Amino acid sequence: MSLLKVENLSKSYQEATGRLEVLRNVNLEVETGDMIAITGESGSGKSTLLHLMGMLDKPDNGAIYYSNKKI
Ligand SMILES: Nc1ncnc2c1ncn2[C@@H]1O[C@H](COP(=O)(O)OP(=O)(O)OP(=O)(O)O)[C@@H](O)[C@H]1O
Ligand SMILES: [Mg+2]
Repeated sequence: MSLLKVENLSKSYQEATGRLEVLRNVNLEVETGDMIAITGESGSGKSTLLHLMGMLDKPDNGAIYYSNKKI
């Protein structure tokens, strides 16, 4: 059983020049005891993903599960 599961997560922001697609169909699974690092260049969407996984923001699409329970 996975501790955390991220399924087809998408998130975009409305900007003055149009819609900025930050995350597109992100999938991730973390098992109990896993130690992971999220890496990527500045602006690639690391904080956006963490905000969604921490329930501080809502995705446009997709789902997040903790211990198989959808949040
Ligand atoms: N609330 C917001 N409204 C509009 N655009 C946003 C918002 N938050 C982030 N963005 C944009 O989304 C993109 C991803 O930002 P994010 O902060 O997730 O990147 P990051 O990988 O955490 O970068 P860094 O390494 O600099 O912390 C950037 O282009 C950023 O300008
Ligand atoms: Mg960041």
